[in-house]
Amino acid sequence: MSHLPAELLRTLGEIVGPAGLIDDPAAMQAYLSDWRNAYRGRAALVVRPASAEEVAAVVRACYQAGVPLVPQGGNTGLCGGSIPDDSGHQVVLSLTRLTRIRDVDAGNETITVEAGVVLQQVQEAAAAVGRQFPLSLGAEGSCTIGGNLATNAGGTAVLRYGNMRDLTLGVEVVLPDGRLWNGLRGLRKDNTGYDLKHLFIGSEGTLGIITAAVLKLYPAVRSRTTAWVALPSPQAAVALIGRMRALCGDRLTGFELMSRQSVAFVLRHVPGCSDPFVEEHPWYVLIELSDTLPEAPLNAMLETGLGAAFEQGEALDAVVASSEAQVSALWKLREGISEAQNHEGPSLKHDISVPVSSIAAFIAQADERLQQAFPGVRIVCYGHVGDGNLHYNISKPVGSEDEPFRAQAEAIMYLIYDVTQAFAGSISAEHGLGQAKREAARRYKDPLELELMRSLKQTLDPTGLMNPGKLL
Ligand code: FAD
Ligand code: MLT
Ligand code: ZN
Repeated sequence: MSHLPAELLRTLGEIVGPAGLIDDPAAMQAYLSDWRNAYRGRAALVVRPASAEEVAAVVRACYQAGVPLVPQGGNTGLCGGSIPDDSGHQVVLSLTRLTRIRDVDAGNETITVEAGVVLQQVQEAAAAVGRQFPLSLGAEGSCTIGGNLATNAGGTAVLRYGNMRDLTLGVEVVLPDGRLWNGLRGLRKDNTGYDLKHLFIGSEGTLGIITAAVLKLYPAVRSRTTAWVALPSPQAAVALIGRMRALCGDRLTGFELMSRQSVAFVLRHVPGCSDPFVEEHPWYVLIELSDTLPEAPLNAMLETGLGAAFEQGEALDAVVASSEAQVSALWKLREGISEAQNHEGPSLKHDISVPVSSIAAFIAQADERLQQAFPGVRIVCYGHVGDGNLHYNISKPVGSEDEPFRAQAEAIMYLIYDVTQAFAGSISAEHGLGQAKREAARRYKDPLELELMRSLKQTLDPTGLMNPGKLL
């Protein structure tokens, strides 16, 4: 039996119909934990409205009854932002039935989609009109545009196209009291005061519910070349990205770094993956060049860049994909890391960023301090070099139990964040704060910034019903 007042339950049922309410405990389970099972909560109810108007009516009813809401999209987030607390009093508001692509305006190079549309479907809709929507990440087959906006998602194409904030022209939002703000302007220039969409992008559901957005489209890519390169060190990766950028400019659309440990986990746990090289190497990068011209001389550019890198000792070995199947195989080695690490016990995720020029020094210092303080822990370091964004994840020592390792999680986290802070970095580059990093943000973020954030929260959501316990 739900803890909600009977009148609210009846009203919600009238708004969304029987297909939109889930109160059966077994059926609710999928909404109450994340894919890693790192966060688990309880809820009074799961509500699944099917339109922006239904979302507005649900939010209004909950506002009037004083019931807190936890918005949820594809539930692929990595910080527990979409999972309710364990009080059992919160309502999960699932946006996955808002699946309409409302408009594709090829002349304006925009697409207008509802919050529950899966990222991959937006990519496909763009391709159908000879365009691309460039946001790209491992979870693109299940994450939603609403979740991408609420977390300001990044991924593997940020170095060329920017993150979700850069790809968005307008948003439609249900405010905490249930009013529907139509900010769906498809304008590239609009200086009529504060740019309110940016308040909601990256707000992790704490200021309102995003129901739709106008997104930017780009010309389709018509040629591409992908290489897997072995390197001696992270310093070599930073030198190589500078070299490739100088040579290729915006044609450099992917540059992903992986330690041997990261790749070893994929080779061990992800079926169908094999090492492109016979020998093991300490570091690898996946380089992608692309162009809108079908016959762009990308291989020649790559050869020039890699030739110089071999001469300078920045590269140790390289393979260039010669078929679409090989391109997919190389990306699978990169995209498989998250899944592979799960097979090695609890993974402590640290999604940090530092200036690109500090990447190598950060890794050297963090590695040294960690190995001194926590001998044997396995460092799974990989990330998006062009964004200075490292996933500096940790797995337990070989042969050790989960629980003693979990007990060290906080100390490991603070060690890594202290080093991050020493390099003027961020403790969350692209995944957000959710419930995982809320306390840490208090420690590392400027108190004045936190005060401004709290006053915005107070102004927009004075009753605190929007995703309580997250971010702030
Ligand atoms: P959810 O997980 O459902 O929610 C995330 C947050 O957004 C929660 O706080 C939730 O309350 C809020 N929210 C969801 N929908 C709405 C809405 N409509 N209105 C208001 N608030 C809402 N992230 C990256 O940035 N880069 C990566 O490279 C990347 N790679 C990943 C790889 C894998 C294998 C996995 C599993 C995840 C990865 N992620 C990555 C994390 C995740 O996919 C992104 O954070 C994604 O944007 C979350 O979308 P979602 O629909 O699953 O949101
Ligand atoms: C990725 O880039 O693969 C994800 O953002 C990192 C992760 O799953 O930790
Ligand atoms: Zn990432």
